Amino acid sequence: MTPSTLISPPSVDTAVRLLQLRKTFPNGPEEITALQEFSLDIAPGAFIAIMGPSGSGKSTFLNLAAGLDTPTSGQVFIGETDITGLSLDAVTRFRRRHVGFVFQSYNLIGHLSVGENIQLPMLLDGRRPDEQWQQTLVESVGLTGMTGRLPGELSGGQAQRVAIARALITRPTVVFADEPTGALDRRTGDQVLEVLRGAAKRFTQTLVLVTHDPHVAATADEVLFLADGQFAGRLAAPTSSQIAARLVELGR
Ligand SMILES: Nc1ncnc2c1ncn2[C@@H]1O[C@H](COP(=O)(O)OP(=O)(O)OP(=O)(O)O)[C@@H](O)[C@H]1O
Ligand SMILES: [Mg+2]
Repeated sequence: MTPSTLISPPSVDTAVRLLQLRKTFPNGPEEITALQEFSLDIAPGAFIAIMGPSGSGKSTFLNLAAGLDTPTSGQVFIGETDITGLSLDAVTRFRRRHVGFVFQSYNLIGHLSVGENIQLPMLLDGRRPDEQWQQTLVESVGLTGMTGRLPGELSGGQAQRVAIARALITRPTVVFADEPTGALDRRTGDQVLEVLRGAAKRFTQTLVLVTHDPHVAATADEVLFLADGQFAGRLAAPTSSQIAARLVELGR
């Protein structure tokens, strides 16, 4: 987390490395700094929660780290690969193999069945889905017997379980999730989060999760805070009340 002093490329025991990452967006004649320069290492298998007020740069951070968007300056390594040095095509290919992403709004394809939605990242990558693995995932996210349904026939919690299985089908090394429980009630959200965290642990994946919920963040190994596009501190294994207190300080 200490800025600027890290040396690239990362060692094998870094799952994600952000080096002097910065992102601005054009805004008429001016520009918005969504993320001020910062650096961060995430260890393999870690569960990191990202918190901060609305507009503080959390989604920007996640999209850059996952290769869904490109930084204005700086580098992103996933494992030993500098994804910021890849062409758009290469980054897409890399992402399909090594990165899973879960969106708040599920982003399922409405005319494809649950099973087809789960297989989609494999098919897009020209690979055959491993049926045994798909079955394991379907069971572990609690969707047994539902793979023939269409997304429109699912509850929000079930839809998010499909999105989680879809994110894990390629056996990614890192899973990013942007408020995956934000559209769900507390109880359903807790269950979905348990599925996500349980799967990440079971399959030793690194999990980086944006959440507004201190209760959810308290289950992470570490919580990182953003405010006004800047790194605003970290808490290791905090309680939900410590997190809530920090958010009040940050002016949430
Ligand atoms: N594509 C874009 N074009 C212009 N400005 C953007 C764009 N995306 C984000 N921003 C701006 O960058 C800043 C950070 O936005 P970001 O979406 O990362 O915040 P956030 O922390 O995820 O907020 P929330 O909790 O509401 O989801 C905001 O000021 C936002 O308006
Ligand atoms: Mg956001």
